[in-house]
Amino acid sequence: MTRTVYVNGEFVSEHEATVSVFDRAFLFADGVYEVTSVIDAKMIDNNAHLARLERSCRELRMELPCSPEDMEVIQRQLIERNDLEEGVIYLQVTRGTADRDFKFPKDAKPTLVMFTQARALIDDALAQRGLSVITVPDIRWKRRDIKTVGLLAASLAKQQAVEEGADDAWMVEDGFITEGSSNNAYIVEADGTIITRQLGSEILHGITRAAVLELCGRDNISVVERPFSVDEAVAAKEAFISSASAFISPVVRINDHPIGDGKPGPLVQRLREIYIEMARSLAT
Ligand code: PDD
Repeated sequence: MTRTVYVNGEFVSEHEATVSVFDRAFLFADGVYEVTSVIDAKMIDNNAHLARLERSCRELRMELPCSPEDMEVIQRQLIERNDLEEGVIYLQVTRGTADRDFKFPKDAKPTLVMFTQARALIDDALAQRGLSVITVPDIRWKRRDIKTVGLLAASLAKQQAVEEGADDAWMVEDGFITEGSSNNAYIVEADGTIITRQLGSEILHGITRAAVLELCGRDNISVVERPFSVDEAVAAKEAFISSASAFISPVVRINDHPIGDGKPGPLVQRLREIYIEMARSLAT
């Protein structure tokens, strides 16, 4: 099926959707994005995604092309036009099109692009089997809290993982894991305490991460927000990731060391179930 894509005010066939070679995102990675998941044709946590988009723009002094309310209207139209039941909506804002120059253009109009990707999120084979991850040095820039399209380091990490027969990469800085190539990282200690890195400019402030913390608070599962080392991860009882597209998914191997018995652990399986239940009930 040919998808309908949104580009700067128009809904067009994916084969006709284009942006200029002078777009600042193409030349400078001068763009920010969001990925919102869709189940039952409804969006999960979309207000939080749009709020983070606004923050990313503010941090980069980038103009928003329209209000978050107008963006939501476009997202809903895309879901409808593409008959999207389950999958994701990708949304990207760039500083716009201008002749190549490092300084910001004076009167460029921001570019807005959105498209959908149909994908099984709930019955995801990887989530059932559990992921294997390798660790790689975190070579990204120092403002990982801004969700920019500068994703080359993450792409290199993921590609290395795949070439080494793994599913994903966890990135390491000063001996501690920051996050996964496109997800937040967690371990579970022997006593059932969940450890995940505290918020800061070293990681993306995951929307799904915030939901995990809320669920744990509600279920009296203790969470400590601090950096954890590769050695701690290898010795953990369970490990997992979170993201809009993976929800909560178990990690069962780190650098060829099985985590626990090498199968998805009971805590992460329960968290995934209650997350999906909550997301489904609150989706809009
Ligand atoms: N990635 N950390 C990084 C580096 C990410 O790229 C992502 C999301 C997350 C999780 O954030 P959230 O829970 O808000 O999705 C953490 C998206 C899914 C992507 O790039 O496709």
